[in-house]
Amino acid sequence: MTDVKERIAAQLIAVRDRSLTYTEADDDLLVRQHSPLMSPLVWDLAHVGNYEELWVLRAAAGITPLRPEIDDIYDAFKTPRKDRPSLPFLRPAEARRYIEGVRGRVLDVLDAIDLDDPRPLNRDGFVFGLVIQHEHQHDETMLATLQLSGQPGLVRDGELPRGRSGGPEEVHIPAGPFLMGTDTLPWAYDNERPATWVDLPGYWIDRLPVGNRAYADFIEDGGYDDPRWWTPEGWHWRQTSGATAPLFWTRDGGTWYRNRFGRVEPVPMDEPVQHVCWYEADAYARWAGKRLPTEAEWEKACGWDPEQRRSRRYPWGDSDPTPALANLGHRASHPAPLGAYPAGASAYGVEQMVGDVWEWTDTWFHGYPGFRSFPYKEYSEVFFGEEYRVLRGGSWAADPAAVRTTFRNWDYPIRRQIFTGFRCARSES
Ligand code: AVJ
Ligand code: FE
Repeated sequence: MTDVKERIAAQLIAVRDRSLTYTEADDDLLVRQHSPLMSPLVWDLAHVGNYEELWVLRAAAGITPLRPEIDDIYDAFKTPRKDRPSLPFLRPAEARRYIEGVRGRVLDVLDAIDLDDPRPLNRDGFVFGLVIQHEHQHDETMLATLQLSGQPGLVRDGELPRGRSGGPEEVHIPAGPFLMGTDTLPWAYDNERPATWVDLPGYWIDRLPVGNRAYADFIEDGGYDDPRWWTPEGWHWRQTSGATAPLFWTRDGGTWYRNRFGRVEPVPMDEPVQHVCWYEADAYARWAGKRLPTEAEWEKACGWDPEQRRSRRYPWGDSDPTPALANLGHRASHPAPLGAYPAGASAYGVEQMVGDVWEWTDTWFHGYPGFRSFPYKEYSEVFFGEEYRVLRGGSWAADPAAVRTTFRNWDYPIRRQIFTGFRCARSES
């Protein structure tokens, strides 16, 4: 096999190891629904195998369906998450057998495929990038399910670099055009294309994500009780949800605690805040005299290299992430402290943009000008419109294969179970 194929094979194996690690629990925990927001864990597991069958085996290689009768069960559009517990989904042992059977054939297809084949699913192994990223995304979803379940077992305490105080609060990004999105990254999704010149006025963006200390100050200052800071929709959410702090936070006396994968611990005040919805992020920003960055502002601050006039794959450059550059790949089950990654700073000096927490932006999820859906409308296009806000950067639970300067995630503005925080920005003067 070529180097490229070997790298793809290694990524396929790594992501599958990850999925199997997250589904080692008792069958009962895997088939149960832990929250109406989430699927039973074993649904996610067989869904990634079914997706691999659909795209690699059937679409790219033209192989006869292995189990066409289960397609409907694993079609995310046929059954919303809340209704999935009643589906006749494969039980854990059978689900594992099914995905293993698919995987064996997928490796054969990889062996035989021509990476220079001009068909877009085959070229540069796009279809393998599609399924590798898809499985990593579901793995992160499974982690959110496990966090919601309150079940212990997935608290990882891998060592992360120490935080660092000092340095400017904000970074100035001078006015000027930058190239947003990509035409060249081989595994980029349709929603990252085509690359587009965007001319932005100058602005300020926070050097770091908003931390737990600052967020606790917002709570302390009555931020959840003051409609001035909230949009009408946000205030409605605040009233109906009854939220008074990030999800999984509780207060005992003067101390904030968080429940992290079943472990209750004092909130580390020097970490980025996570488990806040878009409305909370937006309200905090207004309280702080700022606003959320637009998606374009976020991407320029993350990836644009004003000297080279090109976009970097990651804030620090084009080289792969390492443990010294960003908190990715679930080495520990939490964000790293603020200031932990000076070497991971962007060309402008903005830090912790990739890894740690997904960051809410002010922008609705839309296609870029000239967008063309590929390979199917249900990945991105059906979500375009004023319903979902764009999230950027990836969390500690995101894998390097599924994160880059141009990568776009999205969710409803009320969602808090994902590993999400934010940073603020403001316009010049
Ligand atoms: C990009 C994370 C919003 O989980 O709904 C998974 C990814 N698409 N299977 C989602 C996805 C199809 C998607 N997000
Ligand atoms: Fe999926």
